[in-house]
Amino acid sequence: MLDTANPVRTDTHAQRKATVDRLTALSIRNKTNPFLDIAWPESLPEDVMWMPHELMTVHGTQAGATLTPEQLLRLSKWESIWFYSFNVHGERHLLRDVLNCMHSPGYEDVSDYMHHFVCEENNHSWFFSNFCTRYGGKVYVDKRSQFQAQPLKPAANAFLIFARILILEEMLDYYNVIIAADEAVPAVIRELNALHHYEEARHMAFGRAIVADLFDKARKNCADEDIDACRAYLDRYIGWCLDSLYYPAMYRDAGIADAYQFRNAVMADPGRQSHHEAMTAKVRKFFAKIGAA
Ligand SMILES: [Fe+2]
Ligand SMILES: [Fe+2]
Repeated sequence: MLDTANPVRTDTHAQRKATVDRLTALSIRNKTNPFLDIAWPESLPEDVMWMPHELMTVHGTQAGATLTPEQLLRLSKWESIWFYSFNVHGERHLLRDVLNCMHSPGYEDVSDYMHHFVCEENNHSWFFSNFCTRYGGKVYVDKRSQFQAQPLKPAANAFLIFARILILEEMLDYYNVIIAADEAVPAVIRELNALHHYEEARHMAFGRAIVADLFDKARKNCADEDIDACRAYLDRYIGWCLDSLYYPAMYRDAGIADAYQFRNAVMADPGRQSHHEAMTAKVRKFFAKIGAA
């Protein structure tokens, strides 16, 4: 068991402390105010793509190839609304987890930074939900039940909490980088993605530092079978995140006939495999590096 009163001091622990000190200074120096900084147009043009084609769930699929250009345009709008809704729900859950840890034993060295992290995630959640309600008339409801935590030893559970956060943030950032650079999408969409990437770069640096340290502690405090269970859990969680991208209502809102069948067809299409690998390559590489894959 992890003795939280006397946590194991390791190189990874020293590294996480140095990282959060640097990130705290950066968060203070580079503080943004999205409530003032973002110029929201009255409406967005419906004759341009809101989501780059290469990031849409239909890309590379047989069913997607049957869509007309008009259907693809409509779907790009609703895939965009779901993507930002998914951000909002993901951030809601990670905020809950970070708030639970923030002033708990074992997190004293990172609690200061966590306040900045929470503040920034709250801002992201505001601008993404504002985007959805302004231009889509709603934030899509998250209908999937939450991915259940597996009851393991405290040190393993602590590792999984921050590993889950890192997986989600790395996946969303894959989108942010591509969308922010796409001149074809409306300017406000580029701006939101650029702003999110700007702050998420710090969150992911924090995530990598704390995950490496918590994995180190988990290995020292848990049996091999617990560590194997963690590895299997991470694989399932990555699969759960990828499945979440195929939100059924966005196909229906785009006016596609037999929306649910269509969704199942694109989701099962082997053409999606290379996209799934690209979205998760960075985080899988990180887990492999620290021995968690
Ligand atoms: Fe965020
Ligand atoms: Fe974040």
